[in-house]
Amino acid sequence: MESKEKARKRIEELYKLIEYYDRKYFIENNPVISDQEYDNLMHQLSDLENRYPEFAKLDSPTKRVGGKPIDEFKTVEHEIPMLSIDNTYNDQEIREFDRRVRKALGREVEYFCELKIDGVAVSLIYEKGALMRGATRGDGFVGDDITENIKTIRNIPLSVPVNEKFEVRGEVYMSKSDFERLNREKINSGEEPFANPRNATAGSLKLLNPKEVTRRRLRFFVYGGLFFGKNLPAQAETLKFLEAMGFPVNSERMAARKIEDVIEFCKKWEKKRDELPYAIDGIVIKVNSVRDQELLGSTLKSPRWAVAYKFPAEQATTTIKNIIVQVGRTGALTPVAILEPVHLAGTKVTRASLHNFDEIQRLDVRIGDRVFVEKAGEIIPKIVKVIKETRTGQEIQVNPPEKCPVCGSSVVRDKDEVAYRCPNVGCPAQAKERILHFGSRKAMNIQGLGQRIVDVLVDTNLVRDYGDLYSLKPEQLEKIERMGEISSRKLIENIQSSKNAPFQNFIYALGIRHIGERASEILAENFVSIEDLRRTDEKKIAGIAEIGPEAARSIKEFFDNPENNEVIEKLGKAGVSMENKQPVKKQGKLSGVRFVITGTLENHTREEMKTELKRHGARVSENISRETDYLITGKNPGSKLEKARNLGIKIITEEEATKIIRGEI
Ligand code: IVH
Repeated sequence: MESKEKARKRIEELYKLIEYYDRKYFIENNPVISDQEYDNLMHQLSDLENRYPEFAKLDSPTKRVGGKPIDEFKTVEHEIPMLSIDNTYNDQEIREFDRRVRKALGREVEYFCELKIDGVAVSLIYEKGALMRGATRGDGFVGDDITENIKTIRNIPLSVPVNEKFEVRGEVYMSKSDFERLNREKINSGEEPFANPRNATAGSLKLLNPKEVTRRRLRFFVYGGLFFGKNLPAQAETLKFLEAMGFPVNSERMAARKIEDVIEFCKKWEKKRDELPYAIDGIVIKVNSVRDQELLGSTLKSPRWAVAYKFPAEQATTTIKNIIVQVGRTGALTPVAILEPVHLAGTKVTRASLHNFDEIQRLDVRIGDRVFVEKAGEIIPKIVKVIKETRTGQEIQVNPPEKCPVCGSSVVRDKDEVAYRCPNVGCPAQAKERILHFGSRKAMNIQGLGQRIVDVLVDTNLVRDYGDLYSLKPEQLEKIERMGEISSRKLIENIQSSKNAPFQNFIYALGIRHIGERASEILAENFVSIEDLRRTDEKKIAGIAEIGPEAARSIKEFFDNPENNEVIEKLGKAGVSMENKQPVKKQGKLSGVRFVITGTLENHTREEMKTELKRHGARVSENISRETDYLITGKNPGSKLEKARNLGIKIITEEEATKIIRGEI
């Protein structure tokens, strides 16, 4: 039989284990066991606690898994209203805030900068060392009592070493990876995904079943404390005190005396926001001294001692005016949404790619719909979600076209492919796209060869394919509207000087399907000329690392097409270089060793590290595969880390990588 003492020991042990796994998951962002293993430990613990309640601690993790579902939330009044903050959008507005503050106080002040977490504001009340109440902000005066849901949040202390009653305020949020996981689950079970982590957090806190909330893995950052009657002298100290009590305080915070330093902090995080594992939508700038805060006071709506610097929004809502179909250079038909213009991340957005017709179906997006558009990191905005609640019934569904919208050819769909395509290689839309691609920066880099010029060149039959570019004369260009003598001559010069583009750019410029920048680079390392590539057996090409059978097949198809060979012949006659003039001997000491980099490095940019590795002959790829030798990890590594672990790939730090480069290990 199990002895009481044994049970007590095991309970203690489980507390420690769960605390360790929680820290790994919630603080270090580096989970070390599966959800199932974790659930198992929790079950063991709750089972033991049920049998030996005398050993169950008040703040046992089992207290977080949630009791019975409730019918509705009670409303509660905030003893001190939860005000909102005024927003600023640029340096000038931040400086105006600084002027107002200094003018009101008649002297200089110290500021305190914090990340503005993009989640949901909550108030937590502790009495006699225990969490008594958690509430939403509501309208600032009255919110919902969500205590049971709040208790499920693992990094909110259930007990604290302070007896007096006090309140803390902070932001509940969902990490980017938990948000993506939740949306994947939702999509898989046919439910509507959330538009962003904030909506997912708000939706989760409103769930009436706390057990369900547990599974959402919400997290918390505290940003304020109200110690009724005896506040600490400054925000910086309040946060330190809260941290010492066991509350999660964001470590990216800074005191500053000069407004220039405040602005620099704002700009730094505006650039680096994507590197954080959670979403932030700005910086909160507070007057540090609590005495000064009191002197400045508040208006009805917001304090005079704080202001938010809001980053340009990366998400907005707008209406789909139309959905058109574009023909790409390989004939792929891409639906593009034409949007009611909307400001997003500092630019005016008028269109968004819908990728393919499967995507239209998945999103169920229709002309006339209101949608969320997002521009996070990428250049082309994407549609994240349709707001179906506001549909009027007048929205129009879009189906894949049966005919190419440009040349009228019957559309085909290759098996195993999502794309519909126009099979006519002579389709003017395809020709235009191929020419544009040929002249693009990473290809032949012909400046001045833009969409407008290419449209005219193809429409007037001056150019049928990129091989014709080299025989263009300035007089022919001058006839084009808005093309003067000088710009015509300049464009011809640029076309002519592109003849000596590096071999890898030339390969890329050909526009062979599946041959992007990286593949072109590898091909240029392995072949001396286009002739060499054309003559090489498909199997042999497929065997080159990082090329593979799909790319090899499309190279073969490209050279099997007589029209492509004619174009290449034209290029040859025009004197375009089609060979590798400076074959790069990749015989460094790291020749053949494969690296992948993840996370933010401290002493190098990723690009620098890549160049450094390549200089010694190493291969650096974007994705982990079985062939990868080393994963170099920086701060906030993404999913690559887990993948590397699963595949048993060596994981090294930036420092170790530097040593490998130097030949020290
Ligand atoms: S201070 C009266 N600090 O931003 C000032 N707010 O206030 C109280 N927020 O929804 C707010 N991170 O929940 C403060 N470090 C931070 C914050 C923060 C996020 C939220 C807050 C509220 C909104 C505007």
